[in-house]
Amino acid sequence: MRIDIVTIFPGFFDVLDVSLIGKARERGILDLRVHDLRDWTHDRHRTVDDTPYGGGAGMVMKPEPWGEALDQMLDDEALLIVPSPAGERFTQRLARELAEEAHLVFACGRYEGIDQRVIDHYSERGRVRSVSLGDYVLNGGEVAAMAMIEAVSRLVPGVVGNPESLVEESHEDGLLEYPSYTKPPVWRELEVPAILLSGNHGAIAQWRRDQSLERTHERRPDLL
Ligand code: ADE
Repeated sequence: MRIDIVTIFPGFFDVLDVSLIGKARERGILDLRVHDLRDWTHDRHRTVDDTPYGGGAGMVMKPEPWGEALDQMLDDEALLIVPSPAGERFTQRLARELAEEAHLVFACGRYEGIDQRVIDHYSERGRVRSVSLGDYVLNGGEVAAMAMIEAVSRLVPGVVGNPESLVEESHEDGLLEYPSYTKPPVWRELEVPAILLSGNHGAIAQWRRDQSLERTHERRPDLL
């Protein structure tokens, strides 16, 4: 999978060099490139923002650098993703959908967002999705893009070593994941649930299912 990220803070994405995503990049499974939006400015101050038409607080990102950057980045198969608190909600279902794509381009806005004409222009020419990480406001799209890239790329075949570990996770079956335990069997007088030491695989599967349901009922009844 090819992923391009356009941002005014390329350094934010240095962490994508480490861990499973770093390894996937080394192994050529993920072709991930980070671009500085200011490389497509032409003035001495490398200006990317201006005051909003109609007035109001904050600054809006100018369309011209975005246009030049995205013209270069977007090919016929690319899906442009614009992280925004005003977008559709990012979910595990959307992560699975995006993991099927060949080329994702993330346009990370700062300030009060990107001039709407950029989104309108590329919506006419190709596929664009505005996506929100959740119902809260971040300082820009970078952290949201990073979370989406991690959620999506771990679903790309070969990125996570043992694909079975992807199956029983929270949200994969619409429920929250059951609690997990490892050795030692007693820690600070707290015992591992006896059923998990029983060797009875059927009973263990049933217990885990019950725990998932109970957790989901308590913490996220909206999922049921
Ligand atoms: N940019 C600012 N807040 C955001 C959010 N909640 N999701 C995606 N992008 C954002």
